Amino acid sequence: MLTADSRVRDVWANPFGRDVLAKVLLQLGVSTRVLALVGRVRLRSLPRLTGGRLDGAFIDALVTMLNREQEWPREDSDGLVRTWWKEAIFYQVYPRSFQDSNGDGIGDLRGIISRLDYLQALGVDALWLSPVYDSPMDDNGYDIRDYRAILAEFGTMADFDDLLAELKRRGMRLVMDLVVNHTSDEHPWFVEAMSDPSSPRRDWYFFRAGRRAEDGAPLPPNNWTSFFSGPAWRYLPQTDEWAMHLFSSKQMDLNWENPDLRDEIVRMVRWWLDKGVDGFRMDVVNYISKPSALPDGSRGIGELMGFTGIEHYVLGPRLHEHLAELRARAFDPYGAVSIGETPGIGREVGRLLTGDYRGELDMIFNFDHLENPGKVRFDEYRYSLDYLRDYYSDYLTGYGDRYWMSLFLENHDNPRFVSKVDPDPAMRAPVAKLLGVIQFTLRGTPFIYQGQELGLTNHAFRDMSALRDVESINKFAELLPSLGAERAFAKVLAGSRDHSRVPMPWDRSPHAGFTTGTPWIVGDGHDVGLCVAAQDEDPQSVLALYRELARLRRSSEALVYGEFRVVSRSRRHYWEYERSLDGETWTVQANLSRRPLRRVPEPLGEVMLATSGSTSGSILAPYEARVFRRRADRHGAS
Ligand code: NOJ
Ligand code: CA
Repeated sequence: MLTADSRVRDVWANPFGRDVLAKVLLQLGVSTRVLALVGRVRLRSLPRLTGGRLDGAFIDALVTMLNREQEWPREDSDGLVRTWWKEAIFYQVYPRSFQDSNGDGIGDLRGIISRLDYLQALGVDALWLSPVYDSPMDDNGYDIRDYRAILAEFGTMADFDDLLAELKRRGMRLVMDLVVNHTSDEHPWFVEAMSDPSSPRRDWYFFRAGRRAEDGAPLPPNNWTSFFSGPAWRYLPQTDEWAMHLFSSKQMDLNWENPDLRDEIVRMVRWWLDKGVDGFRMDVVNYISKPSALPDGSRGIGELMGFTGIEHYVLGPRLHEHLAELRARAFDPYGAVSIGETPGIGREVGRLLTGDYRGELDMIFNFDHLENPGKVRFDEYRYSLDYLRDYYSDYLTGYGDRYWMSLFLENHDNPRFVSKVDPDPAMRAPVAKLLGVIQFTLRGTPFIYQGQELGLTNHAFRDMSALRDVESINKFAELLPSLGAERAFAKVLAGSRDHSRVPMPWDRSPHAGFTTGTPWIVGDGHDVGLCVAAQDEDPQSVLALYRELARLRRSSEALVYGEFRVVSRSRRHYWEYERSLDGETWTVQANLSRRPLRRVPEPLGEVMLATSGSTSGSILAPYEARVFRRRADRHGAS
């Protein structure tokens, strides 16, 4: 049992504790080497030593969670399990922005169907579709009003069935988005819970009495904050109570303690699996379990992370149990894949959530690689790729055969990665190609976000009126009083999710072939040369490279299942690693900077790919990656 008298090194000796310490140090921008100095420090001294940044509330929450999560991930293995989702190349479609088919300016299902040949030619095996369910679209579909209906502006259920059939016809698979941490406030369950105080649905959500300020004004039940600014509680004046929403005030959190709710979710998941979908990406699924008492969050952690209360639900008391139940009752009978979106989860707990012996999830998305240490998405800075190298090197070294990683750099919640690394237009293609090589050659399953294969960049968006995202709009309102309009807008622009939500550029026609009408959102700053049609004609394009990478990955089991080994990571801006299986070894050498770099001049086998186009010479061009393959001959020599 850990207590406040335990020492920092006891925390490090616990799987969850290790992740938390790593995360806190990362956020503070401090190396884990500091642990050698502070290992003996008792937890109860931390508030004093950190000037209150790690406060008593944090220590209490930490100790509770450490005592709950004491089992380390298993290191043994009976050999790697081979399965389709480890071999597949996934592609995320953001339906609203992919292809419009009827000129209303909004992407739709028939539009997606019309682009399946493009995706197949790219080498995609499986689609992950962001939500297409019926929704009032407060958060672009992550606020679901009916889990069993298609939103009219995306099409009909018949269109959905056609999409599924067209995918199957091409030997491709479909993964849907499962949003079950919350529903829309317009979902009939919530509407019923609001209108009928005796409804059993009331217990499906978090309704709580509030507190009172000294002047009698209503205050929320606790200090948790929403990810989209402001408190995580919406006041309901009719009944003088509050309902919890970790996201927008129209996304009401579901109470997973209620067994009837869990039954209903199982039925709903099976309903889609009966239709033939191949699995789900599960939205913020690690947040589904909350301690019933809903205790206040640590203020220090709130300031450090930007969100208050998160330590109570990032790995809630019954998370493992709920995941195992959902998997056993809904996923396993269908052999469906489960991919958890799990913000805030580190490497060790990530292994606990995905171990093949645990029956919880197959893969997770976590996000620690998307920003440099000490930075958050809304900071304006240049991302250093040396950190990406160190992150993946650490993560994958000794990861074990029982665990499998998802590999992604972009999605609909993040600006374009290329722009974070180097906004110089001359470096766009080299950076995009380097990132592509990294994503296709590490050990794990690549997830490509639409447009990433074109090397798309961020937009200039002239002012707030061009932005559509609820997060950006709320953020601007939050920052405006302290920063003023110009600075607030600059910050919002640095992190806005709308950069990746603008229409996919297909061709040189008006609105890039996305729509014949007026698009629901327009970006500012892409030149037509980036569209699919233009890149199709250019063998040196980012698109051509992605096709080649997909071909290479499909051609070699070593690139999928091969062991990962870091060859070199100590030189500044240089990364070299290997993937090997059954006598075949692939080596990747990468220049992580905008300056030419001398590479190690060893004979590494045949050059399979060089992103600069030149396959010889011992200098790596700016952001160049070179990929080699060698095979052992009969005698075992290279
Ligand atoms: C994560 C989703 O990817 C994001 O788009 C959404 O806003 C939140 N979860 C809330 O559902
Ligand atoms: Ca449309």
